[in-house]
Amino acid sequence: MDHLLIRGGRRLEGQVAIEGAKNAALPMCVAPLLTDEPVRLHRIPHLRDVDTILSTISSLGKKITYDGDTVEISCGGALRSEAEPRYVQQMRASFLILGPLAARLGHAIVPLPGGCTIGRRPVDLHLEGLRAMGARIEEFPDRVVVRAEKLHGARISFSHPSVGATEHLLMTAALIRGETQITNPSKEPEIGDLISLLRKMGAHIVVERMSIRINGSEHLHGAEHTIIPDRLEAGTYLLAGAITGGEVQVTGVEPEHLRSVIEVLRKAGMSITESSETIRLLAEQRAEPGHIVTAPYPGFPTDLQPPLVALLCLGKGESLVEEQVFESRLAYTHSLNRMGGRIKVTGRKAIIAGVNTLVGAKVPAPDIRAGGALILAGLAAEGETVIYYPEHIDRGYASIEQKLALIGARIERGE
Ligand code: EPZ
Repeated sequence: MDHLLIRGGRRLEGQVAIEGAKNAALPMCVAPLLTDEPVRLHRIPHLRDVDTILSTISSLGKKITYDGDTVEISCGGALRSEAEPRYVQQMRASFLILGPLAARLGHAIVPLPGGCTIGRRPVDLHLEGLRAMGARIEEFPDRVVVRAEKLHGARISFSHPSVGATEHLLMTAALIRGETQITNPSKEPEIGDLISLLRKMGAHIVVERMSIRINGSEHLHGAEHTIIPDRLEAGTYLLAGAITGGEVQVTGVEPEHLRSVIEVLRKAGMSITESSETIRLLAEQRAEPGHIVTAPYPGFPTDLQPPLVALLCLGKGESLVEEQVFESRLAYTHSLNRMGGRIKVTGRKAIIAGVNTLVGAKVPAPDIRAGGALILAGLAAEGETVIYYPEHIDRGYASIEQKLALIGARIERGE
């Protein structure tokens, strides 16, 4: 069975070059559905999720041309309005094709994404927004059918600053004449990056304090864009340096995108130095205990909650981590407890009593970020750790065993 084998106990030391952001790349691979002209994306990360989204839009009629870490998405013939279930069910971000297809073709059929290990993950905010724009949507247990002969601008207000719903409606509104206003949008850096691509494609977008205004156009053109660095990959490697008592520098990053993470790491006693595009962490002590609450940007990112909990397992004293974004994103902690962690979960709260050592174990990676947390625990544990289902980890971390081995980890992939 595919697995990662880690022999723990090594300090990590060295530099890690950070990829383009997965969560910016995915919507940007959907945006070319809005035009027949070529869109070139530089710094595309080599990840399973990117392969999946590119297969999805290729199955809809787009032509994909790779050139190193640049991908060109161009017209490959008439667009299809129905996506194949196997892609959307593999990865929920494929659901974002619904609005752009409906705006382009006047109709679309897209499978409903499933929930996953971190929560139910409904798409009600996506559908409400599309309906406000004039789309007629029929919901079936496994798919949604959209009729959208004449979409129009709308005023949309989110009860929750959903990242995916913001991206979905931004892209759809970009192709609609008239103004759409989204109040309480997500403010993640990946949204800003998508906005800069859509502007290059011809959409007029104004970002205000509590809303985004989009004046779309019936014709958008091709563009070229370099994707922002992946703050989640960068944060994971900094936490790997912290948990192993090492010294790790991440390069090609935007420190501002990691402000809340840097603050938490400094409060945990890590010494951090920044330059315009690097962050260096030196761990001279075990992590101080803390109380961290995940929140939409600029709060502490939910996607770094699992790697942070791994660090706090070997921290001093007792820490409290509250997961405020997803309703069930603490299930993975039982695997950390099997490695000697002492984590008590009640609802969205995890109380972590720091221990002196973790011990290697055989554990499953349930999703991308929990998989990252288990790797970090294995790097610091005594003995061997085997992590099954590494394909979940490959969805969000490119060449993780190679990058970790380059900074001293004893990690290899086996069958
Ligand atoms: C994006 O997921 C990211 N994925 C997630 O990263 C990330 O954890 C999440 O944003 C939060 O930052 C991508 O960008 C591909 P949401 P998304 O819509 O868009 C509720 C990773 O590991 N909600 O902001 O699905 C939802 O249930 C992944 O890289 C509704 O209620 O996140 C959740 O509780 C994991 N109705 C909360 O909002 C909706 O219509 C946040 O969801 C939509 C969302």
